[in-house]
Amino acid sequence: MITRNFFLFLARNDFVKNRASKWGPKLGAKSVIAGETIEEAMETARQLNEKGLSATVDHLGEFVYNKAEALEATHYCVRTLTAMEASGVDCNLSLKLTQLGLDIDKELCLSNMRTILDTAKKYNNFVRIDMEDYSHLDPTLEVLQELRKDYDNVGTAIQGYLFRAEQDVDKLKGTNIRLIKGAYNEPPEVAYQDAKEVYNNYLNIIKRHMLNGSYAAVATHDHNIIAEVKAFAEKHGIAKDQFEFQMLYGFRSELQEEIAKEGYKMRVYIPFGEDWYGYFMRRLAERPQNITFAVRGLLSK
Ligand code: FDA
Repeated sequence: MITRNFFLFLARNDFVKNRASKWGPKLGAKSVIAGETIEEAMETARQLNEKGLSATVDHLGEFVYNKAEALEATHYCVRTLTAMEASGVDCNLSLKLTQLGLDIDKELCLSNMRTILDTAKKYNNFVRIDMEDYSHLDPTLEVLQELRKDYDNVGTAIQGYLFRAEQDVDKLKGTNIRLIKGAYNEPPEVAYQDAKEVYNNYLNIIKRHMLNGSYAAVATHDHNIIAEVKAFAEKHGIAKDQFEFQMLYGFRSELQEEIAKEGYKMRVYIPFGEDWYGYFMRRLAERPQNITFAVRGLLSK
């Protein structure tokens, strides 16, 4: 737990962040981040597609505090969607609302999302809003609710470690939801702290969403959860096109391919861009063994 908290602290620490950016590739970040440019992300998606895997790309970046940066991030998302269409990859877009100005002005964020969703709609593509820390949960759901009045090509993610996850999933019946355990450091007032309790609540929300007849994106590297979901779908006659599995790029690649070969949709989340630091620290926090990536990176040159 100390290790987890330590990495989560580092994830938000600007002092370390500014210095670490120079060492990024050396820290092994490149084994889990698909380069810095849209072209590199498209090439990674193409390679995964060849192995029977779908993709979603996320241009890394969070907590934008001025309007110009939020607009820049919006245009970058539009360019990424356009590149997906041009290269013909099986890939959709994941993004964070704080990148699009959620902390500046909700209306600005909504307008940026509309620009992105109009582009996605034109290309018959889908946009997933990642879920951030608890302070952004309600604002994110409010933006989603507003957008859902006009767009059906948008969804978000719900975190199983939160006590309220079940109610949120029920409210989002009919929406394409990514179900996850949750990656942030949330207090005992709002979130389960015990791994077994997180596991149980996570499985509970997955099953609820699937039984609701809603499309579920089950995003986990946990083979026990994956086995339970397969058995549950089988038992309840839930077709394979009603749900998908998702994993992060660079994690359990063999298992990803196995799942795809069994005929399930398996989507790989590909982060890219220069702003890799917070993402990388959260991965180290949730699985200290991931530090081997960092050590390998440091030793490699
Ligand atoms: P967890 O890390 O709890 O591992 C469970 C077990 O699985 C381990 O004990 C081990 O046995 C096995 N295992 C896990 N990783 C392994 C590995 N690399 N090699 C071998 N065995 C391994 N979070 C968030 O808050 N907001 C978001 O929007 C998203 N989005 C998102 C998208 C996608 C595609 C994924 C996969 C994850 C996220 N997350 C996220 C992160 C998520 O909330 C969660 O923190 C991580 O996925 C870690 O939890 P897991 O369920 O993967 O297993």
